[in-house]
Amino acid sequence: CIPIWLDCDPGHDDAVAILMALHLPEIDLLGISTVHGNASLFNTSRNAARCLLAFGSSEQAKRIPVYAGAEKPLLRYIRHDSEIHGEDGLGGVEGLPPSDSPAVLSKLDETKGKNAVVALADAARSLPDGEQLTIVATGSFTNVALFVSLFPELVRDKVEKVVVMGGAEGRGNRSPTAEFNVLCDPHAASILLDAEVPVVMAPLNITHTAIFRKDDNSTLLVPPSAIPDLASSTPDATAHPSRAHTPLRHTLHTLLNFFASTYKSVFSFDDGPPVHDALCIAYLARPEIFKAKRYRVDVETEGTHTQGTTVVDLYDYKKDQLVEFKKDPESRASWGRFGKNVLMLEELD
Ligand code: BDR
Ligand code: CA
Repeated sequence: CIPIWLDCDPGHDDAVAILMALHLPEIDLLGISTVHGNASLFNTSRNAARCLLAFGSSEQAKRIPVYAGAEKPLLRYIRHDSEIHGEDGLGGVEGLPPSDSPAVLSKLDETKGKNAVVALADAARSLPDGEQLTIVATGSFTNVALFVSLFPELVRDKVEKVVVMGGAEGRGNRSPTAEFNVLCDPHAASILLDAEVPVVMAPLNITHTAIFRKDDNSTLLVPPSAIPDLASSTPDATAHPSRAHTPLRHTLHTLLNFFASTYKSVFSFDDGPPVHDALCIAYLARPEIFKAKRYRVDVETEGTHTQGTTVVDLYDYKKDQLVEFKKDPESRASWGRFGKNVLMLEELD
């Protein structure tokens, strides 16, 4: 079981990542922190708590803390993405507890006054000798950049790797060349890639192949008897019997419908939305279904037209700076000096 900490900005696809992290048996979710991004920190924090309470078992909902982290980028001006995720970050989603419900507010009250980055450090420190934490980051990288800057020794000793959704090889989604999570805080992304820790990146190139298709979405609504492997299981509730067979199916259906509609209107995606962030969790649980390759990756932190672009050295142009890690790509010694050595997830099998 892989102990993970999830840093996120829910967000429709972040919500799917939370669901998977709570239920895949390969994953042990220790804590959640939130960051500005798809919506304000106020909303992403409430959304994370809403997802945890709706998707987790009562034991998980009690045990797993939700910390509010950075509300703005390190240097850049703040931006949110209501066009894709709605004003509150989870537009159109039905069946979650309301943002201002007592359960959500008391979940967030539990961690009030404690810094999210310090909480992440404590989680890493609390692992037994020989165990290391995997950090998954599916929002802008402000919290993670602060963490690697403040606790470099802890990062070296107790962090296995950081798996991020972000960046792209030669394309963008919120600018012609920049992916949203990197664009939100390019300086933080650059700090993370320079840190002495292995980074695995799920860029747009692969996440745009992980589409939740219309057909997949309609399976959320057909009777369980029509789906062979569900035929024998009993639906756990029937809150919306005419439309979906369990509250969870209904919630996912509304979530994916909204996401599909914004991807259609903004990006002309006809088949359905990419579930970007879910790939980070899928990679940890099933690495064998991914094809990956190491590259040097830099982040354009300024740039008149290219701020937030990940510059991926596909043809090893900067060969001299690669020698060190090519000799022994897994060794930590090769991470510090020539940071920016990133394992890029390129294809799904
Ligand atoms: C990323 O930006 C957000 O819209 C998604 O949640 C994902 O993390 C995709 O560029
Ligand atoms: Ca996200």
